[in-house]
Amino acid sequence: MIAAVLRKSALRIVRLSSEADFQGWRDAARRLALNDVAPGEILWTISGNETDDLFAAGESLREPPKGKELKVSREFVERAAVVICHSDPDRFGFLYRLLCRLGREPHLLKIHADADVRRFEQMERAVRRDIHKMRAFVRFTRMGDGDGERFIAWFEPQHFIVERNAPFFVRRFTGMRWTILTPHASADWDGERLALGPGARRSDAPAEDATVELWRTYFRSIFNPARLKVKAMQAEMPKKYWRNLPEASLIPEMIRNADKAAEEMIAKAPTKSAPHHAAVRARHWSGEAEAEQSQEAGTLAELRRQVDQCRRCPLWRDATQAVFGEGPENATVVFVGEQPGDQEDLAGKPFVGPAGKMFDAVLDDADFDRRKTYVTNAVKHFKFEPRGRKRIHSKPNAGEIQACRWWLGNELKLIRPELAVALGATAAQSLLGKAVPVTKLRGTTVEREDGLRVFITVHPSYLLRIPDEAARQAERGRFLDDMKKVKKLAGM
Ligand code: URA
Repeated sequence: MIAAVLRKSALRIVRLSSEADFQGWRDAARRLALNDVAPGEILWTISGNETDDLFAAGESLREPPKGKELKVSREFVERAAVVICHSDPDRFGFLYRLLCRLGREPHLLKIHADADVRRFEQMERAVRRDIHKMRAFVRFTRMGDGDGERFIAWFEPQHFIVERNAPFFVRRFTGMRWTILTPHASADWDGERLALGPGARRSDAPAEDATVELWRTYFRSIFNPARLKVKAMQAEMPKKYWRNLPEASLIPEMIRNADKAAEEMIAKAPTKSAPHHAAVRARHWSGEAEAEQSQEAGTLAELRRQVDQCRRCPLWRDATQAVFGEGPENATVVFVGEQPGDQEDLAGKPFVGPAGKMFDAVLDDADFDRRKTYVTNAVKHFKFEPRGRKRIHSKPNAGEIQACRWWLGNELKLIRPELAVALGATAAQSLLGKAVPVTKLRGTTVEREDGLRVFITVHPSYLLRIPDEAARQAERGRFLDDMKKVKKLAGM
């Protein structure tokens, strides 16, 4: 997407190809800044807007003088790519003004009291929240059967996030053919290709059908009773979304039954991969990106894409998918587990199964917000022994841990946390590059050569395996003390 930069009298007009055309903005902004064009001399517009006709012709902006360079931090580029999705009509000009200031004040983004920085942060937060809400609240309606089956959803985002969010839905619903309609854009996945198109009207989406019941079933199954916090849930699922959420009527009943459901969930046996994971695997393991894997990724999103294609050891063959870390890119604490378990392998997310529930419950008791931390594993694929219908966890060996250190090392390089927490021996071995006695070092911090402090503790699944109730409670108490220490060490 090359943005056209035209000149009309004193004004430069930049035409971007869409509301969230970051590539176009970046290309134009770079050339404008290198030509010392002041922010006030630019009119940013979208191709097809009426204003275009007013400035139909002009002289193209020249390539910048040779040898002149624009230095911009990767952090700014990544965050600006999010902010560009904001619905503020002034966002292109605002980002350009910020870019010009960064040229003169390279540490500007650290000055949180600065009005521009505050605005940048607020816009970024608003877009990220909207992205998250779309992921959580898109509800598909099924149309047709057999080969003609497809799923349509209507959603009303506040910002221009469809393009940025579409790859998430491709990954999550690879095996379905679906279309998401919104007022300003649509995304369509035909099972192989993603197409982005214009906006639609609510009446273009079909009315409710039998999938409503499917959503209710799905919500019941993903509802995590051990993590229930009523206020947080209502903040997370604001009432304005409820009218489009078939499952909303289940909430009161689920709150009432949460304690009993938590016990049943811990007792539940592992499951086999759902049939649609064959499609997820076929797609993720197409082999196209193998070459990419030895190149260092510049962002966590890029690294996640590379991990999806990992062939560094044979564990990828039997797992459903790689399970990448989860959490903010600027987290001060990174928790490292061993490897995904059965439920993590199916969900594609770390620590969502029984050990994850225990981990969450202890963090809650420590008043430690998991969402502010980054949670990952030393090994990214589930290693298991099939036993009947069950998949029984099997410990990764030293070769597999070593092969996967590449990914953990890159996650840490990108996040640059204050503290890493090794949950158990595998994590400690991966973080420190050698096997260490966890029982002896538990509760202490070891500093690595690169300066990263590693706090050592046990794995939460250890607590689940203690049969005696009193002993389990005592160990849980020690683990809680460890989590409080971690919180303090990280200054959170
Ligand atoms: N155990 C782990 O070490 N990691 C997970 O993600 C789940 C269970």
